[in-house]
Amino acid sequence: MRSEAVHRALIAELAAARARSADRVPRVLDVGGGTGVWAVPLAASGCAVTVVDSSPDALATLRRRAADAGVADRVRGVQGDIETLADLVPAGEVDLVLGHDVLEFVEDPAVALCSLAEVLVPGGAVSILVSNRYAAVIHRTLAGRLDEARELLTDPAGRLGSQDGGPGRDRLLRRFDGPGLAGLLSAAGLVVETLQGDGVLSDLIPGSASTTGTGNADTAAELEAAAVGHPALLATASRLHAVGRRNVGPNL
Ligand SMILES: C[S@@+](CC[C@H](N)C(=O)[O-])C[C@H]1O[C@@H](n2cnc3c(N)ncnc32)[C@H](O)[C@@H]1O
Repeated sequence: MRSEAVHRALIAELAAARARSADRVPRVLDVGGGTGVWAVPLAASGCAVTVVDSSPDALATLRRRAADAGVADRVRGVQGDIETLADLVPAGEVDLVLGHDVLEFVEDPAVALCSLAEVLVPGGAVSILVSNRYAAVIHRTLAGRLDEARELLTDPAGRLGSQDGGPGRDRLLRRFDGPGLAGLLSAAGLVVETLQGDGVLSDLIPGSASTTGTGNADTAAELEAAAVGHPALLATASRLHAVGRRNVGPNL
């Protein structure tokens, strides 16, 4: 159930890429793709996938996972940094770029998004998935961790420990909100076509309620599907998913 709406958006993008360029398989670049949670299924669906990641350990796991899935020939792992992508991937050649759960860790998300936009073919798209700071506030509050909830709410980056002067108590460097994420995509020259939630209500279902009684799995999936695009609920979704397109045009 998790991330079903994100999967649907990716499938639609790949169909559009196949319609645009029927003579070749879709080219996907997964930046910060880690161990291949997204990359390997995309390769299995017939795409040529390049994963750029700063972690050699993650890339080793990616290669094992791709081999186990029988798609080693369609997955390429490259060690590198999102902000120097231009040295690793030619501009203007990729149909779909994934930046899932990575902008929270990079030095400058605005620079990173420009790097992602540059490698797209005209008409291609980026798919960005990020943590939502307001969901983190709500989850900390429900867990009774009120000092952390207040800090996440008031810290400019939505991070724990920003003001401590050290490396911080938070593995993330920042969290996002919907308008901030949309603004970053626009600033990178992308047209924001989708802004939806992920884990909007499904992450709030208590323990066993998603699989028993009136809260069974099908109902939970239907509830989540109804909630992902709801504007009022977007503000508190666990994660935010955006699709931004590089327009086909002479100056873009
Ligand atoms: C939370 S994992 C997400 C993995 C995958 N995208 C997913 O959704 O399952 C973050 C990944 O980003 C990578 N990463 C962090 N900073 C990076 C950077 N500046 N450039 C490239 N990769 C980076 C990490 O090595 C890690 O594999």
